[in-house]
Amino acid sequence: MDRAYVRYRARRAYLAGRRTLGVVILDRATGLDTSREMDLKNVGLAHPERVRYEPTGWIDLLRTFRVCRPQPGDVLLDYGCGKGRVLVTAARRDFARVVGVDISPDLCDVARANLQVDRSRRRCGAIEVVAADVTEWDVPDDVTVVFMHNPFRGEVFDKALARLFASLERNPRRIRVIYRIPMEEQRLVATNRARLVHSFVGLRPGRTWSRKMGTRVYELA
Ligand SMILES: C[S@@+](CC[C@H](N)C(=O)[O-])C[C@H]1O[C@@H](n2cnc3c(N)ncnc32)[C@H](O)[C@@H]1O
Repeated sequence: MDRAYVRYRARRAYLAGRRTLGVVILDRATGLDTSREMDLKNVGLAHPERVRYEPTGWIDLLRTFRVCRPQPGDVLLDYGCGKGRVLVTAARRDFARVVGVDISPDLCDVARANLQVDRSRRRCGAIEVVAADVTEWDVPDDVTVVFMHNPFRGEVFDKALARLFASLERNPRRIRVIYRIPMEEQRLVATNRARLVHSFVGLRPGRTWSRKMGTRVYELA
């Protein structure tokens, strides 16, 4: 067996183990339903620039919120919130408000149910989950932290960014963008309005893979 194949198999086994750990220990034991991925074609919403539901890893979220602690008055938006794992994690922290938007009403229902299950650990203020296409939805003017886990690509990404900047024009403020697996980072950088303030690599086997799977934190101006 050649080395590349052994490495490939080892990586697959590692990722499968991590996923099982997420499902069995961190989801089932807490009554949450966030681990299983979902293709948008299953709910008739497939589009090449819309990325399917896949949750951010629990450990990645802990690392992220350790770096991006909520400041007083911070309002978090998960842009493409899926089943709400990020919302659940953010709601356990001192955000003034937590908002999620997703194109799939089914995923939004699961996110609301997850937030309900986790309500005893809630520390944030209000919570809202909105079923909408980001290309047609106005970003609320109190949002100060935007989480994106590779949710959309190409023109959809550009339109979502335009909505974010429109909100910044309406209400100038400090906005931090946490961009995980930043596949469209160049589009963000090309606006000349985003300053990189933190960067960390993903917890994945293989250096190139980890760099690609990393998280960047930008501040918008
Ligand atoms: C990779 S998942 C991220 C889920 C969640 N933020 C997390 O990190 O656990 C991307 C999500 O973006 C949503 N999405 C894709 N295109 C969208 C669009 N145009 N408007 C709103 N949501 C969209 C998908 O339905 C999916 O749930």
